[in-house]
Amino acid sequence: MLGNFTYHNPTKLLFGEDAMDMLADELAGYGQTVQLVYGGGSIKRNGIYDQVTEALKAAGKTVVEDAGVMPNPTIEKLREGVAIARENHVDFILAVGGGSVIDYAKGVAVSVHLPEDTDPWQKYWVDFDEPTCEVVPVGAVLTMVGTGSEMNCGSVITNHDAKMKVGHVFSNPDVFPKFAVLNPRFTFTLPRYQMVAGIFDIMNHITEQYFSGTDDNTSDYLSEGLMRSLVRASRIAVRDPENYEARSNIMWCATWALNTLVACGKATDWEIHMLGQAVGAHTDATHGMTLSAVALPYYRLVMPYGVEKFARFATAVWGVDPEGKTADQLAAAGLDAMEAWMREIGCVMSISELGATEDMLEAIADSTLVMQGGYHVLSRNEILEVLRESL
Ligand code: NZQ
Ligand code: ZN
Repeated sequence: MLGNFTYHNPTKLLFGEDAMDMLADELAGYGQTVQLVYGGGSIKRNGIYDQVTEALKAAGKTVVEDAGVMPNPTIEKLREGVAIARENHVDFILAVGGGSVIDYAKGVAVSVHLPEDTDPWQKYWVDFDEPTCEVVPVGAVLTMVGTGSEMNCGSVITNHDAKMKVGHVFSNPDVFPKFAVLNPRFTFTLPRYQMVAGIFDIMNHITEQYFSGTDDNTSDYLSEGLMRSLVRASRIAVRDPENYEARSNIMWCATWALNTLVACGKATDWEIHMLGQAVGAHTDATHGMTLSAVALPYYRLVMPYGVEKFARFATAVWGVDPEGKTADQLAAAGLDAMEAWMREIGCVMSISELGATEDMLEAIADSTLVMQGGYHVLSRNEILEVLRESL
């Protein structure tokens, strides 16, 4: 039976190769001073920066630049962004980049109007409190596909001192981007490694919400459709990165994979993200690859507790022929098919490739949060077992 839920997603999407034409008009609806947030410079090399500044100029905005947001944005950088926003009394934050830039923008947005003595890390990423102050509106121009941050209210921030990487999914609808510009062409310049990391991130967002519960739930059928589209498009995109149709479908899958839709009425798992974030906290590795490196050992460990769903995954997503197979055999064949696809597209398959070593495993386990919503709640020993299998 479906659980009760509220679905409210206020983000306006502007999708397609002409989407940037609408940015100036969209910006007109917000205040005068815009904090333009971006990463390490890819947008200057591929021309997106020029298009954005042109739109800001056309909208008559005063622009304050906030560059250098790193992949896996840190709390230190976030504090700098808050200072910039306070000093310049910004009315709007425009994030141009991937999940890191957008998550950072949301983190700044909920912190600018906090009392000066309130620590954002403690409030939002330790206590998981909701904003008790005005939230600065955020808009996004997406350049890297995977996280779904463009249409959700999550913000993942890293604290290297605490060795923690923590995601807060806010409940306040003000934290969702007001709008997101989604032009699939903007993703053509992504290095293959980032493209593949994003593709696995999308797949894992879906499976984190799919592998839970035993009820007949429309959300799971939506997930199966998204996974089939993603697998098909990803196979095309790795051979032909400038295939607009494939890149569009990957972009669209990413947005729907994590904009709260496919979790409606369901329990959800998220343990692979907890393991991946712990690996990320200790290695600063690329998010999607931290997930691919731990996913198969985790799923093979929990499969016996949810075998029917894993068997359904095999037939509905991978087209495995059920004829003559037990549920266990079918379930195993589905994970084998996923593994073959992961290797085909170039996912990282071990945490050692990401810089993790045997002597780090206890500390990574200490940083791993244990979730309750999947088919099995991991014990400390099982966390270590998954990490050891992932080495
Ligand atoms: O910094 P620049 O120079 O722009 O380079 C970036 C960065 O190095 C580059 N890039 C982005 N667009 C490009 C490009 N290079 C060439 N051409 C383009 N068009 O790609 C690199 C990675 O960017 P990043 O934003 O870090 O990637 P992603 O979108 O995967 O975001 C990762 C962050 O999002 C968090 C992750 O934990 C990680 O911190 N997540 C956020 C979620 C959410 N808000 O709901 C959920 C996810 O599960 C995830 O945890
Ligand atoms: Zn993710």
